[in-house]
Amino acid sequence: MRIVTTERVLTVDQARAFYDRMGAWQDWQRFYEDPPLRRLLQAAKFQAAHSIVELGCGTGRFALQVLSEIAPADCRYLGVDLSSTVAALARARLCNYSDRAEVRLSDGNETVGEPDRRFDRYVSNYVLDLLSCESTGLLLSEAHRLLEPGGLLCLVSLTYGSSAFQKAVSGVWSRIHAAWPALVGGCRPLELLDFVSSPDWRVEFRDVVSSFGLSSEVLVAARV
Ligand SMILES: C[S@@+](CC[C@H](N)C(=O)[O-])C[C@H]1O[C@@H](n2cnc3c(N)ncnc32)[C@H](O)[C@@H]1O
Repeated sequence: MRIVTTERVLTVDQARAFYDRMGAWQDWQRFYEDPPLRRLLQAAKFQAAHSIVELGCGTGRFALQVLSEIAPADCRYLGVDLSSTVAALARARLCNYSDRAEVRLSDGNETVGEPDRRFDRYVSNYVLDLLSCESTGLLLSEAHRLLEPGGLLCLVSLTYGSSAFQKAVSGVWSRIHAAWPALVGGCRPLELLDFVSSPDWRVEFRDVVSSFGLSSEVLVAARV
């Protein structure tokens, strides 16, 4: 297990303020996010998804791709985000799916007010890398509660690189985060696998995808 170098994470209020201010520019990160997200789309069998929940849905980019290109026409979607700026962008982006897609504003709590085993996919992309270890534990407990048995936990997060260049990039990023977390949106590299190594989850797919020197871990685990 690689030890996360800092627990200096943004508070919920700081994260909300950051994404309210910067949310309209969030999609510029697609230059390094798109390749790992494509890998997740391939690995998580969204063709068979009927009920998806996404925590930290951002501007709804991932949801739109799933609903418009991959999931069956009856697939329902619930996105949750703490920023009113990005939640409004996501609602606008998903307006053609308003009969089956909903975006809710949250208070930053990891819980989603829905019944147990309500969903077959729980998605959270580039969110665990800005949460504390304690919040990540709560998020995973909630994901386990919300997923039906065999349902898939679908995660993407910043991680450490393996080549010299990628290691240098993730090292610089970690140091910036340690000194000034808001400069990198509160996100820092970590290893998702460390968090799902429990009898609650069976890892079905894991890969590290690098783009422009930035490495992302893609992980799909089935709820046991
Ligand atoms: C780095 S962005 C990623 C957005 C989107 N998932 C993507 O891949 O483009 C992180 C998102 O998580 C949201 N967020 C951060 N902490 C959260 C929390 N505790 N609960 C819900 N959303 C949260 C932020 O508002 C922001 O939209």
